[in-house]
Amino acid sequence: MSFNTKILGTGSFLPDKILTNDDIAKRVETNHQWIVERTGIHTRRIADPSKDETPSGMAKMATLRALEAANLTPNDIDLILFSTTIPDQFFPNTACMLQHKLGITNGCPALDINAACTGWMYAVPMADAMIKTGLYKRILVVGSEMTSSFNNWDDRNTCILFGDGCGVAILGRAEAGEESQIFSTVLTADSTKKDHLTLLGGGACKRITHEVLDKGENWVAMNGPEVFKSAVKTMASLSEKVIQDSGKTMNDVDWFIPHQANLRIIEAVGNRFGFPQEKVIVNVDRYANTSSATVPIAMDEYIRSGKIKRGDNLLLAAFGAGLTAGAVFLKY
Ligand code: UT7
Repeated sequence: MSFNTKILGTGSFLPDKILTNDDIAKRVETNHQWIVERTGIHTRRIADPSKDETPSGMAKMATLRALEAANLTPNDIDLILFSTTIPDQFFPNTACMLQHKLGITNGCPALDINAACTGWMYAVPMADAMIKTGLYKRILVVGSEMTSSFNNWDDRNTCILFGDGCGVAILGRAEAGEESQIFSTVLTADSTKKDHLTLLGGGACKRITHEVLDKGENWVAMNGPEVFKSAVKTMASLSEKVIQDSGKTMNDVDWFIPHQANLRIIEAVGNRFGFPQEKVIVNVDRYANTSSATVPIAMDEYIRSGKIKRGDNLLLAAFGAGLTAGAVFLKY
């Protein structure tokens, strides 16, 4: 017996604190116009860990909203897949922290996934496969990121790009006769480009030492133009493949929800498919790049505002350090 996978509910959480381009320009040599022209970003949100706005704390808030939308309680979840690039701490994992914060007592397995900005997109096909086979019934798929914890506020090449936030989806079985389903998924990783986007310090190979701190290896480092080129190419080709695998065409796409890293990347891919502007979901202007949280946050916003409706076909695509990439085509 095989089951179709349905999005039962979504939720998101964004910290209140807003950081503007002008705020950043007080610290590094940059300006609002440059940032808007090159990235489309106007503002980003910054988490406050003293208010529990950590990856697990933000995920708790987003999950409570998703549970309400799905009319479920915390103990209805039977697996947590938690994508985060920088966890609350190395271990126990962030998924266990979330299980605790939600008061889940059913002993459900709880697992972190790290595929950088593609992490949430990586988790969706895994959840889909486990729901299809009947192994789990309701899987919480989280993308929650406190990028401000690894953002080097003295590096103008990167500090303008990132923001904090969380998006989640609860995936479960579609009832017999329901149309909702995940049509097709595709994931890749190209490790020949692994050095283009890194955070070297703090892991087993480079413990935090004075030398690591002096070299700034405790912060994110990026070859922006190389990541930019790969992002456009990969998101476009994986989007094409996932649509082809589903036996449908780009005309069947109601909404395109790409990873929100840079408006120019989003427009380049959207234009390639001839999508009208209103089909392409954008919030990078307000939240910047929240890493693996961008796609579930954008999806939740459009569902809550009533724009995305049951029966709509959503094309999701993401890329990130690794370089990892993925695309999912589904009927909401
Ligand atoms: O989730 C994945 C995460 N990463 C990404 O998706 C990032 C992908 N890459 C990008 O978004 C773009 O490459 C950037 C926005 C990072 C940079 O834009 P670009 O058009 O590729 O600019 P560039 O790196 O070629 O830099 C152009 C110039 C350089 O000056 P010179 O060497 O030409 O004199 C930079 O030093 O702009 C300079 N620059 C800045 N100037 C003002 C770089 N950052 C800034 C800044 N303000 N913040």
